[in-house]
Amino acid sequence: MVPVVFFIFIFLTGGMSSKNVCSYHDVLDYLNLTTDNNVFKLTRPVLDHTHHTRIQLDILLYAILAVIEKTQTFIPFIWATLQWNNELISWDPAQFCGITRITVPKDMLWRPDLLIYEMVQKDNSDRNPYLYVDHHGMVTYEEDMNVVSTCEMDVHKFPFDTQSCNITIGSAVHCIEEMRLFPSSNSSRATQFSREVMKSQGEWEFLHLSVSSYNFTFDNRLWEQLVYTFTIKRRPLLHVINFLLPILFFLSLDLASFFISDHRGEKLGFKVTVLLAISVLLLILNEILPSMSNKTPLIATYCIVIFALMLLSLLETILVVYLMEIDSEQRLKNDQEDKQEKVKSDDEKRSRRFCSCICKASEKETEMLPVAEEVSGCVQSRESRVLLLILDELQELKKTMSLHLSPREGGGGRFFLWATRINRAFFVFYITTVLLFLSLLFYEWKR
Ligand SMILES: *[C@@H]1O[C@H](CO)[C@@H](O)[C@H](O)[C@H]1NC(C)=O
Ligand SMILES: *[C@@H]1O[C@H](CO)[C@@H](O)[C@H](O)[C@H]1NC(C)=O
Repeated sequence: MVPVVFFIFIFLTGGMSSKNVCSYHDVLDYLNLTTDNNVFKLTRPVLDHTHHTRIQLDILLYAILAVIEKTQTFIPFIWATLQWNNELISWDPAQFCGITRITVPKDMLWRPDLLIYEMVQKDNSDRNPYLYVDHHGMVTYEEDMNVVSTCEMDVHKFPFDTQSCNITIGSAVHCIEEMRLFPSSNSSRATQFSREVMKSQGEWEFLHLSVSSYNFTFDNRLWEQLVYTFTIKRRPLLHVINFLLPILFFLSLDLASFFISDHRGEKLGFKVTVLLAISVLLLILNEILPSMSNKTPLIATYCIVIFALMLLSLLETILVVYLMEIDSEQRLKNDQEDKQEKVKSDDEKRSRRFCSCICKASEKETEMLPVAEEVSGCVQSRESRVLLLILDELQELKKTMSLHLSPREGGGGRFFLWATRINRAFFVFYITTVLLFLSLLFYEWKR
């Protein structure tokens, strides 16, 4: 008998508990929340129209997808949580087996018409399709999206810059009497949460997220906005390696080229090459920076001043080479004059020598006829004369070569002295200007 009673007991309790089972549909039925019931989505869900709807908003920054300076675009990936009260919905959880919240498709209920003022491109990705509703009528909606927003960037300190981009959220149709916006976490909490969930930052380092509320008047009505300001800092390493350092290297090459001797074309060629290399780097800069900016970017100043300095040094080299050319021409002319004089005196000497030789010969062989004497003397003098001329010519050549190869030898003329002075003065000027300029610039950059 005992097992039979036991089975009956189990049967009875089972039947009783099956009576108490409830589903979300029971709640929906109770609320009359069906797809063909439009009451819930028609208007703002308040019982008294003077009540405002209070919207709690929370935004977290998940990732910085892109920051494009050229088009002034900031693309963060954000996670927004919205909460508001729907006064038309409430139920007693005790009547529904303790169900305290249900999910409904988001299209079935009224949702605030919040928009992001900076957004320039609609986000077409699939959204979270459900809303949470709890038994007090508190509706929670979560949305993740990448916001393609405009952000006015100040590239004055590029690449050591910090940018602040705003995301302004407000209602399109409801003014402040109808809808109020409140951040559910303050700036420091939002910053901390964002830091915790941040997945990728890329080139940018997330500094902080601040929240503030603004009222603005439009059409004699007051509207409320929440402004989320994302402050991000660029990691400059790549730009330093790619851009700043190469230009500095080229500058030091240009400085080093002062130690190449002036009188050959090599120095000129070298400087022109370095200048060309810099202009290639300038092309890269053109791709990064926006064409419009309030203040001239420091990096542009950096490039232009260094470019101008190198141009100046190239011009100086051209001047020095020109002066050296004049100098060597003058020395050549002087030398030729000297030589001509020398040749004249040599000729005199030589003719004297020949004469004396002839005279000696004539002294020895007095019996010789004057005509024969003259002939033999002539033959002898012609041969030696040719040889001497060749010797002279060779010496001349050697001198010219040495003049061209090392004009410093044995000092130089007036122009050479000038050239050296100009060179020295310019070198000092160049080094001081470069040092002064760079220190000023880096001070400004790091300020
Ligand atoms: C539920 O909604 C339907 C459709 O709008 C309506 O006909 C019906 O009267 C509503 N029932 C209650 C109890 O409100
Ligand atoms: C905006 O207006 C509301 C209502 O008048 C007021 O409570 C709130 O402090 C104002 N906010 C700001 C930032 O002025």
